[in-house]
Amino acid sequence: MPFNIAVFASGRGSNFEAIIKEKYKKNYIYNVSVLITENPQAKAINIAKEHKIPFEVIEKKEGMKRIDHENEISKALSKYNVELIVLAGYMRILSSEFVNKWKFKIINIHPSLLPAFGGKGMFLQNIHKSVISRGCKVSGCTVHYVTEDIDNGPIIEQKVVKVLPNDTPESLEKRILKKEHIVLPYVINEIANNRVKIINGLAYIIKDDIQ
Ligand code: GRF
Repeated sequence: MPFNIAVFASGRGSNFEAIIKEKYKKNYIYNVSVLITENPQAKAINIAKEHKIPFEVIEKKEGMKRIDHENEISKALSKYNVELIVLAGYMRILSSEFVNKWKFKIINIHPSLLPAFGGKGMFLQNIHKSVISRGCKVSGCTVHYVTEDIDNGPIIEQKVVKVLPNDTPESLEKRILKKEHIVLPYVINEIANNRVKIINGLAYIIKDDIQ
């Protein structure tokens, strides 16, 4: 049985593309079965088309309740036998109901070293601006499980980059993205191989060769 994943992305989709490309480059065992987006203009859709990956555009129309929108997402997901949902630049907050239904089956990539620079309002350029204006010397990215508490689920893996004296939010974002493109596919593959364990509420990548 393939380990099917659904990627949720709202925009550019560079992480979505990395998930596809790293799979082939590194022989990762997961199968990218569907892209879910709420944004009909998402560049991620072109990437899905280019790689012949099915995609579902599920818009949240004005006045539509979140629960109805998520029910449509669930309906779409049920077609693909999905084992893991990967949020890769998905700009909507999922309800507690949805998150609990998929407990420890949703992961997210966040462009800071959580728990720093996470939570409400901390997205995209806001994060890198805040990191620079606080004079941080390092930043990076975090892959974590999604729980009801925004950006606060168990951390699976993190990568660090140095913040340089002349960094702009754009230059810092670029360097962090490069790390994201490696670490997110890596974590998905570790989960697909059943090497990620939750112990006392914390996540660990368990390697056979480490006792
Ligand atoms: C990335 O910075 C990711 O960490 C954040 O949203 C951005 C998505 O970028 N969650 P892309 O659409 O994958 O290029």
